[in-house]
Amino acid sequence: MLTWMDSLKGRSMMRLTSFTDEEMLNLIDLAAQLKARRAAGVRGNLLHRKNVALIFEKSSTRTRNSTLVAIRDEGGNGEYLTRPDIHFGKKESVKDTARVLGRIYDGILFRGFRQQDCEDLAKHSGVPVWNGLTDDYHPTQIFADLLTVQETFGSLKDVTVAYVGDGRNNVANSLMMGCAKCGVRYVCCTPRELWPDEAILAEAEAVAKRNGVDIRVFDDPVKGVKGANVLYTDVWVSMGEEAKTAERIKMLRPYQINMDLMRATGNIDGRLMFLHCLPAFHDNRTEATKDCGALEVTDEVFESKYSKVFDESENRMHTIKALLVSALCDRASV
Ligand code: CP
Ligand code: NVA
Repeated sequence: MLTWMDSLKGRSMMRLTSFTDEEMLNLIDLAAQLKARRAAGVRGNLLHRKNVALIFEKSSTRTRNSTLVAIRDEGGNGEYLTRPDIHFGKKESVKDTARVLGRIYDGILFRGFRQQDCEDLAKHSGVPVWNGLTDDYHPTQIFADLLTVQETFGSLKDVTVAYVGDGRNNVANSLMMGCAKCGVRYVCCTPRELWPDEAILAEAEAVAKRNGVDIRVFDDPVKGVKGANVLYTDVWVSMGEEAKTAERIKMLRPYQINMDLMRATGNIDGRLMFLHCLPAFHDNRTEATKDCGALEVTDEVFESKYSKVFDESENRMHTIKALLVSALCDRASV
């Protein structure tokens, strides 16, 4: 029996604040149900005849494939549109693109640079729009992260997540708010230059307080991770910031997640996991890292028993499916 809230019907997600705390927890539970349903071999019709446009200005392995397979699993159709494919923002404004695609599609998932473009698509298309990553936020990722924590520890209660790395990027911004909304303690370990934006931090702190948890920011990663149950990192250079690569590697070297940092949690024999949204620079086998070795995480941690990164990446599919189904499915037809 699938359980989702009627309030989610027709809803867009620009960032995690698009949902109430209760709706967010409900979406994580719905994703767990959809995951079990798929494991039981069910390919349903929850998105029967629904058409979803995927507008992608940046590369993607997980978000693109999770969304397309999630839609297909439930009888719908997804269309992958990259910048060169359509006139988006070049010959045709975002507003006009939204009005055209909104007449054709039932929903739009957007991955791009500007948060404002995502919001303009939602404003003018008349259909639900989901943020599949912008420079500022990566909300779909966080549902998968928290589902992975819930599955591994059995609950989100009494959990501390320590994010170590670029503390003001899209993943860090959304993770901070996701933890706050779900009552998970959040610690950010990052150099002063990369501390979270003050307004984004203050907004998340207010939500965390409401849910009885706190948010702390440290520039010393060894102090910061003490007591953490989840060590989380992301790339040091996000898409679109490539010009900053050398500067970031220098600045963030002391923030690499290695076994010493895992041990510094004090939980090496207890409740402890490693998460990364991926892609990860954990070894020297890829073209991009062949000359610099491991960056944000060592191979030892990435391949260890603590690492749940592939559960996390699989959960992208189940959580995106939950978002799409709750917004698009006609509940009466289930
Ligand atoms: N984590 C994530 O969003 O991965 P992709 O860039 O491959 O979609
Ligand atoms: N912060 C990263 C996330 C990739 C999924 C980026 O924006 O490139």
